[in-house]
Amino acid sequence: MNTMNLDISLSDEIPADETGRQYYYIEKARLYVQQLSQKLGRPLTFCVTTFGCQMNARDSEKLRGILLEIGYREAPEESADFVIYNTCTVRENANTRVYGRLGQLKPLKKKHPHMMIGLCGCMMQEPEVIEKLKKSYPFVDIIFGTHNIFKFAELIAERFATGRPVIDIWEGTEQIVENLPNQRKYFFKSGVNIMFGCNNFCSYCIVPYVRGRERSRSPQAILDEIRRLADDGVVEIMLLGQNVNSYGKTLDTPVTFAALLAEIEKIDKIRRIRFMTSHPKDLSDELIQVMSRSEKICRHLHLPVQSGSSRILQKMNRHYTKEQYLALVDKIRKAVPGISLTTDIIVGFPGETEEDFQETLDLVRKVQYDSAFTFIYSRRTGTPAAAMEDQVPEEVVKDRFQRLLKEVQDIAAKTCSVHEGTTKEVLVESLSEHDPSMVTGRLSNNLLVHFPGNPDLIGKLIPVHLTECRGFYYLGEQAV
Ligand code: SAH
Ligand code: SF4
Ligand code: F3S
Repeated sequence: MNTMNLDISLSDEIPADETGRQYYYIEKARLYVQQLSQKLGRPLTFCVTTFGCQMNARDSEKLRGILLEIGYREAPEESADFVIYNTCTVRENANTRVYGRLGQLKPLKKKHPHMMIGLCGCMMQEPEVIEKLKKSYPFVDIIFGTHNIFKFAELIAERFATGRPVIDIWEGTEQIVENLPNQRKYFFKSGVNIMFGCNNFCSYCIVPYVRGRERSRSPQAILDEIRRLADDGVVEIMLLGQNVNSYGKTLDTPVTFAALLAEIEKIDKIRRIRFMTSHPKDLSDELIQVMSRSEKICRHLHLPVQSGSSRILQKMNRHYTKEQYLALVDKIRKAVPGISLTTDIIVGFPGETEEDFQETLDLVRKVQYDSAFTFIYSRRTGTPAAAMEDQVPEEVVKDRFQRLLKEVQDIAAKTCSVHEGTTKEVLVESLSEHDPSMVTGRLSNNLLVHFPGNPDLIGKLIPVHLTECRGFYYLGEQAV
């Protein structure tokens, strides 16, 4: 685990800087946890569940870091004393799942009154959600949002001290609090936030409303974190931001994303660099050049297109046309031959006609993606698209979705198999879920490979001969 070694004692004054202040509350919360643990005669346990994107997954590692630091141990949800859901609200079904899970927690909490339930993340930034929770789920103990996640220890201490539910939601923040604990899921790879928030306001998307305005971390803080991770055994990093291509624009001394990548490349022990997400409108020639020269940037680019119809793209406020996107893809493929491209596509945006949809199918055929995440448009209250007329009927959307899925899958099966018979480097991630004599790892292009091996290989980069492509993954053998 990464933590700072701050020697803070509860008899001192509460430190004025935010990081110190939170370490003070970590100490305080630890005492409450000790007391309850003594009363129950056993250690207390927690379970963090993540909904949503990599950004949320990284936030959950920060929650886990704090919970471990204050004395909880990790356990499955059924037996946990502290259950926390880190929520997502990008599509309606993400919200529905959270309410469903909360309903199941109610009887558990009744049986074990000392149990604590926490909710945080994007969904909590919506006022209607908070109203609904107060009315229908009053048994939730701690609720906070995306802007004040760094206050987690303080909120836990407050809940213990007052015995009453704590709700703390901020509308926004300029603050970035560095150096709090975090507990990585994998010892050999890690996400690294390079920026928070989003300024793009794509007309369908709720993220800018729940994550706030774009803020970049300083290059120094990012590089320091990556160096610490590298010293701690991390070989692969994933740089995270809603739009990494606009990194650094708002810093006092602006820095480009490409320049940041070039600096990261110099950190010896880091062997692989990934990033997401790239917005096509901001992807610079400088970045393409850095990628083409790099030894470490993975041969994979996630480049969400959302639609193939220029008319719909304009209504989505994406700031590029189908032709511009295709030209960008050409430029990238020329500069980085063999690069794997993946994307996100929304079907059924308001006003989408069969003709628009055909444009999307045409684009998919032209680009030949390695894989694509396809989504049915979900109406998000407060976004411009939610107020647009001619929302597309459900049956029509479902039919288009199925047709798109089939096209995407047929193409992906073809594109993925081109590496059959070659030998490539694989970062081994785990034992295979299906066969304990096999291990599972990832190629630079993000495809999974299963091959015979033992747990000692986990976290290592190994040359593997790719013997057979099975649709979306490979079977292989360690090359010697
Ligand atoms: N910042 C990233 C995406 C974040 S959300 C980007 O710009 O690419 C991840 C994906 O969810 C988006 O790319 C989009 O395809 C999808 N999405 C966002 N809002 C949606 C909505 N209202 N309905 C359906 N899909 C949506
Ligand atoms: Fe949403 Fe667009 Fe921002 Fe991505 S770039 S988070 S899709 S508003
Ligand atoms: Fe969901 Fe928030 Fe990510 S809404 S997709 S968890 S930024």
